Amino acid sequence: MTQTPDSIADARRVPLPRPGPGAPQRRMAEMLRVDHAGEFAAVHIYRAQRAILGDRKGMEQITGDLTEMEGHEQVHLDRFNALLNEHKVRPTAMIPVWKIAATVLGAGTALIGEKAAHACTEAVESVIEEHYADQIKEISDRDPELAAELTQFREEELAHHDHAIAHGSREAPAYRLLSSVIKVGCKAAIKISERI
Ligand SMILES: [Fe+2]
Ligand SMILES: [Fe+2]
Repeated sequence: MTQTPDSIADARRVPLPRPGPGAPQRRMAEMLRVDHAGEFAAVHIYRAQRAILGDRKGMEQITGDLTEMEGHEQVHLDRFNALLNEHKVRPTAMIPVWKIAATVLGAGTALIGEKAAHACTEAVESVIEEHYADQIKEISDRDPELAAELTQFREEELAHHDHAIAHGSREAPAYRLLSSVIKVGCKAAIKISERI
């Protein structure tokens, strides 16, 4: 039997390029994966901050606020869990790493103090809201329903961001350094979670 180039490729299981129709699905998978990872991390940051500050006297206000914000993040996370299932997309393989990183970030900033915890929120939420803004722009034509959901989530992230500033995030020790390090970390985590 004569071997055509196609049959040789089949026999060697050479992956053929998949341009065209697969591309939007792959992009959707990337978007859902990274959003799910971000919300997963947000839940664990707030949870860790609450665990540290909840034991301290005089921290009732911030502990209550953290509980409320963690509740919003849990709603966001539940929605992305459902979307991952619906679109048959796997979560990022980095989930166990993000759980540790988010817990260390939340606990570390809470141990520095209430204002550092707020500085963490301001930095994280500023990256997340920009990330959602980019996605909303990208999908508003092809998936207006998802764009509307992301718009609502983004508004809640902005409310967390503004709440942090109103409660003294910018008076945290080493605010600029803390904020820059957290933002760089979040942006790197976004890139990694899209791909892995
Ligand atoms: Fe969120
Ligand atoms: Fe948030």
